[in-house]
Amino acid sequence: MATEHTLEKDQLLSLLTISQREEKEYLFKKARALADKVFEKKIYVRGLIEFTNYCRNDCYYCGIRKSNLRVERYRLSKEQILDCCQTGYRLGFRTFVLQGGEDPGFSQEALVDIISTIRNTYFDCAITLSIGEKSYEQYQELFRAGANRYLLRHETANKEHYTKLHPPGQKQENRLRCLSELKKIGYQVGAGFMVGSPYQTGENLVEDLLFLKEFQPEMIGVGPFIPHQDTPFKNCPRGDLDLTLILISILRLMLPNAMIPATTALGTIHPQGRELGILAGANVLMPNLSPIGVRKKYLLYDNKICTDEEAVEGFALLKKRIQKIGYELVTDRGDFRKVI
Ligand code: 5AD
Repeated sequence: MATEHTLEKDQLLSLLTISQREEKEYLFKKARALADKVFEKKIYVRGLIEFTNYCRNDCYYCGIRKSNLRVERYRLSKEQILDCCQTGYRLGFRTFVLQGGEDPGFSQEALVDIISTIRNTYFDCAITLSIGEKSYEQYQELFRAGANRYLLRHETANKEHYTKLHPPGQKQENRLRCLSELKKIGYQVGAGFMVGSPYQTGENLVEDLLFLKEFQPEMIGVGPFIPHQDTPFKNCPRGDLDLTLILISILRLMLPNAMIPATTALGTIHPQGRELGILAGANVLMPNLSPIGVRKKYLLYDNKICTDEEAVEGFALLKKRIQKIGYELVTDRGDFRKVI
């Protein structure tokens, strides 16, 4: 199988539809071998802090969309966010991911204040933001305040498909503007998409792969779409496990150095989903550091895992599970490096 760097559209499309167990295993094995070569069997952890579930956006797939009036909304205070960092820091975590809806309740000044406080308290840590679409000036100010990385999935590279997943006010053009500006400012940038989102075609997925190859993000988030009961897509089927794993493998082969998490969504659709993700070439895990009390309120989709584990216990457990499949959880910053 000629996998490495030069796969063209139809070859990619046929890779997406491989159905033989042996073919899939072969692909996973190749991707895993490459990940092992680059990351030496280390799995990086990032402490995820879901600090607000208010959102001004109305993505049709997302459980915390503005129109979902059944969500109990919350915002963590600066002190609560810092407590989460402290818990994580004590566990050894050196990366914090601040994720939230696009919440106008956090002003730019408040964000700058929180980020600079984390930066000054935990100067040896990486700060990753995942707070949506903003202006160049805002991104730049947050970067200067101490943020290093930014996660903003492109969601789908196909314009028409984008309009089927989002209301008219949310434009793909703006999403792409954000991604390129983040890169220009100097953030390590994460893009990505859901597998099996409504209306998605095989060709769309190929476009996603080619977009990512072209964009060269430092991080790539890919997980299955999972319906949420209070969204317009509640009756849509969830994304396929094997297809998600195949995509992770292809992306590993296309972008050998990329940080690719085995996502929570992957862990949600299969009890060993995250392990399977690692065995298909993923090299990052993002345990939840949010206070237990709010976790069940940050539900982008149904049946999300890790909603009732204590960070400390959960982490020890996770470590063991990863060791079992031959990998080592490491807590250092794990910055993107061009190894090969
Ligand atoms: N299923 C899976 N992933 C989802 N996301 C949002 N809603 C869902 C869902 N129902 C993903 C989006 C978003 C990221 C934070 O979570 O891709 O960018």
